Amino acid sequence: MKGKDLLSIEQLSVEEIYKIFSVAKDLKAKTKRGEQHHLLAGKTLGMIFQKASTRTRVSFEVGMWQLGGQGLFLGASDMQIGRGEPIKDTARVLSRYLDAIMIRTYSQAEVEELAEYADIPIINGLTDLLHPCQVLADLFTTLEYKGDLKGRKLAYIGDGNNMANTLIQACAKIGMDIAVATPPGYEPDAGIVGKSLAAAAASGSNVTLSNRVSTAVSEADVIYTDVWASMGQESEQIKRQKDFAGFQVNSGIMKLAKPDAIVMHCLPAHRGEEITNEILEGPQSVVFDEAENRLHVQKAIMALIMGGI
Ligand code: CP
Ligand code: NVA
Repeated sequence: MKGKDLLSIEQLSVEEIYKIFSVAKDLKAKTKRGEQHHLLAGKTLGMIFQKASTRTRVSFEVGMWQLGGQGLFLGASDMQIGRGEPIKDTARVLSRYLDAIMIRTYSQAEVEELAEYADIPIINGLTDLLHPCQVLADLFTTLEYKGDLKGRKLAYIGDGNNMANTLIQACAKIGMDIAVATPPGYEPDAGIVGKSLAAAAASGSNVTLSNRVSTAVSEADVIYTDVWASMGQESEQIKRQKDFAGFQVNSGIMKLAKPDAIVMHCLPAHRGEEITNEILEGPQSVVFDEAENRLHVQKAIMALIMGGI
């Protein structure tokens, strides 16, 4: 995988996804044992942020440190990019200094342009459309808890946003069933759904979209939700609170899933909106293991694409 970009799950084969998981498992075990694993000694990851972050920033920065390299935080508003320097120039300049770039921004097209002009690997750290690093950590966490992925069912309740889009892509590819329930008007990206239906036909999984939470949650192994208003949508918060009534993960919803279903949320969470405090803090919630796994999975991604393995 050396030299490869990670802009979208679509770019990964099923074999590459399981390779990331096996390296992540190994690096997680080494980290827990305190065993040194300087696979990227002397290498630098640039981390461009146009949006806020807690998990992504810290897990990438600490991950690079644990791999023997360094993560360099680049706040977009402090860079010339924030004053209008073109992405294509930024890409070529940064390629002369860095070994890879992780970028969090609004537009997926911007990340693709960065990748087109850079000659180092580019990692998508979240766009309005996709959040592939999060979803790889989510599937790795599901694998840890359930032992397998193929044939399992994930129910996504809430906004058809970057998380929903990426979960659809990943489940369809890996052979997990995914049932998405959104309020009318908040469906996932139609282009992604269309391509994922074809991928699901090939992997033998089911992708279903509806406005019915109870049908989506029925017999689910994983219940997933995310905020109703994502970064950049803060002005729609009040309207969305009304539109999303009935789309909350709560104890009533959990009764419809499998009794051993796990609950996931990419975090940050808004308790009392998309999920109750009781469920987020309850025994079925795995949200903090999920957050921890960002570190291990991203270390695997970086080691593989930056030539450490
Ligand atoms: N889940 C996630 O990406 O969190 P941050 O926004 O804190 O990075
Ligand atoms: N959908 C959320 C995810 C945050 C990790 C957002 O884009 O703000």
